[in-house]
Amino acid sequence: MATAVEAEGLSKRFAEVVAVDEVSFQVPRGQFFGFLGPNGAGKTTTIRMLTGLITPDSGRTFIEGVDSQKDPIHAKMKMGVIPEFGNIYVDLTAEENLHLAGKFYGMSKKEREKRVPEILKMMNLERRGNHPLRTFSKGMKQRINIGCAIIHDPPVLFLDEPTSGLDVQSKRLVVRLIQKMKERGTTIFLTTHNIQEANELCERVGIINQGKLVAIDKPEKLRNTFDKTQSIETSIEGEFDLEMLENHHINKIQRSGDKLKIFTDDVDATVKNLIRFADDRSFNIISLRTCGPSLEEAFVRLTGDVE
Ligand SMILES: Nc1ncnc2c1ncn2[C@@H]1O[C@H](COP(=O)(O)OP(=O)(O)O)[C@@H](O)[C@H]1O
Ligand SMILES: [Mg+2]
Repeated sequence: MATAVEAEGLSKRFAEVVAVDEVSFQVPRGQFFGFLGPNGAGKTTTIRMLTGLITPDSGRTFIEGVDSQKDPIHAKMKMGVIPEFGNIYVDLTAEENLHLAGKFYGMSKKEREKRVPEILKMMNLERRGNHPLRTFSKGMKQRINIGCAIIHDPPVLFLDEPTSGLDVQSKRLVVRLIQKMKERGTTIFLTTHNIQEANELCERVGIINQGKLVAIDKPEKLRNTFDKTQSIETSIEGEFDLEMLENHHINKIQRSGDKLKIFTDDVDATVKNLIRFADDRSFNIISLRTCGPSLEEAFVRLTGDVE
């Protein structure tokens, strides 16, 4: 199968920080690939190198077989990029932004005049074409951002945390748009720090932590690891012995002040046990909160650093 995106031994250092450390992977053409990692993991730096925005210290990058370091102009035509904080102009109208993006990709006036209304329609913003983006909601601006990135109908689309900071409705719209692109055969490279998002959307997920690619697999395989990182946070009054909770569901217990954080494979069973013990041994549960899977804890497991 043809490869749409390839990184080969990619590294980048900022002063003493190794932002990306010998990262290699391949994304086959047409795949919805997720690049998952916590804040500061190196996702944006990786995207910026792949898209030719910054130069790696070492390693090579290819988009649809084109070396994006040696031949950035040719590579640029093969991809659309939606950066973390967008690159639209709020004083210009939606149409003006789309035309500007089209010009950037070398499209003729005639091509742009055909394409701009198509994009506005696709983004459900036909009636807002001549309004300045200043008057747009965050979700509408993000749709224009996507529109600008796909104006030249690129085979590969890079999105850096495209749903971050959007309300639920805009998020859904943006996701639907990305899925539509995928259905049309576009290769999607999406970064996120949201496990759920990666699991729901992506066909394959690469996990990056502290600049290193720690795992790359189908989301179902990675989900097993995440599921083991659910936790319960509780504070308890009275005599309580941690050992009473020790059973096969519990992976780890952290104590901080009067709070306990209990990592468990089975939240339901652990909560029931805790309540049963509270009854039997007469201690009081002051607070109890269930927390979803923890990405940070999952990384500890994936990198084999289990305590
Ligand atoms: N231009 C820069 N100058 C200095 N440090 C940077 C720069 N860009 C990123 N970094 C550092 O590199 C690391 C990775 O950052 P980044 O790629 O933005 O992570 P992510 O997108 O996963 O949150 C972080 O420690 C960040 O502080
Ligand atoms: Mg980032």
